[in-house]
Amino acid sequence: MAEASITFHDLHPTADDLASDVLAGFSRPQKSIPPKYFYDAEGSRLFDAITELPEYYPTRTEMAMLRKYADEIAQKAGTGHLLVEPGSGSCGKARILFEGLQPCAYIPMDISGDHLRVAAEAVAADYPWLEVHAACTDFTRLMTLPPSSPEGRRLAFFPGSSIGNFDPDRAVGFLRMIAEMVGPGGQLLIGVDLKKERRILEAAYNDAQGVTAAFNLNLLTRINRELGADFDLAQWRHRAFYNQAEGRIEMHLVSRVDQLVRLAGHTFAFAEGETIHTENSYKYSVEEFRDVAARAGFTTDTVWTDDDNLFSLHLLQTEVTNEE
Ligand code: TRP
Repeated sequence: MAEASITFHDLHPTADDLASDVLAGFSRPQKSIPPKYFYDAEGSRLFDAITELPEYYPTRTEMAMLRKYADEIAQKAGTGHLLVEPGSGSCGKARILFEGLQPCAYIPMDISGDHLRVAAEAVAADYPWLEVHAACTDFTRLMTLPPSSPEGRRLAFFPGSSIGNFDPDRAVGFLRMIAEMVGPGGQLLIGVDLKKERRILEAAYNDAQGVTAAFNLNLLTRINRELGADFDLAQWRHRAFYNQAEGRIEMHLVSRVDQLVRLAGHTFAFAEGETIHTENSYKYSVEEFRDVAARAGFTTDTVWTDDDNLFSLHLLQTEVTNEE
């Protein structure tokens, strides 16, 4: 059976990182927790469940588009790349592309080490012709490829509208990092959720089964477990809404009562109705995103959208530098 080679970078966050990030986030007027901490084992499992919810249209829509346009994507992007996927999760979307793109190697990167190992080994077993080199890393801080990766033209794949979880200036910074990683003449295939009716947007982050709520609240369970905090989960609830002025969905945890929480030797007071801001999900029109990409040094090759104008896929490239 084919095996995946897996590199673990030391940047995987520790309990100390969590402690300093939470303490820093709680010392600001609007308390916040960085969203990367959602993805412990339970968080990754709940996230996969979110992607299958009837209200959560992005995953299903993007997968249908990848299937529909797989051949066209390969025609435009070419074949035989080193395919690099930051935040690869379960690798389900990349699988749709393997046959058409015929990459020379696949490099999934994820912050959740166990999840990554299982997903990368399953890919290696199902695609014996494909070299798999996985890297466990916080891709927002480091994008070096595993040392074992082969040489080759690089195509980055960043689906799921994860780019929307950065604010626009940080999105430009992150895309610049990708541009540097793929190098001159490198490419990026990126999925971006489109602006649309508030009703559709808000339903996607407030599912009837409460899976998104469980995902959001799991952050507090993780902080209790890893930092010995004493959040009483019954005293918190999930809230998500579309902030039209900012063009983003905001996720918060709302304190149901006035309460005190002990955490890493500190005590924090929360007033009834006070919130911890846990994530943003920015939405872009095709034109707005083209602009973000341009600011990062990418030119747009092709943009695909679905018939209902829910979601967009952008194929971008960096300039080829002419050497004399
Ligand atoms: N980036 C996707 C989005 O913003 C997926 C995602 C990240 C998400 N965090 C989430 C979805 C929290 C629901 C809840 O839609």
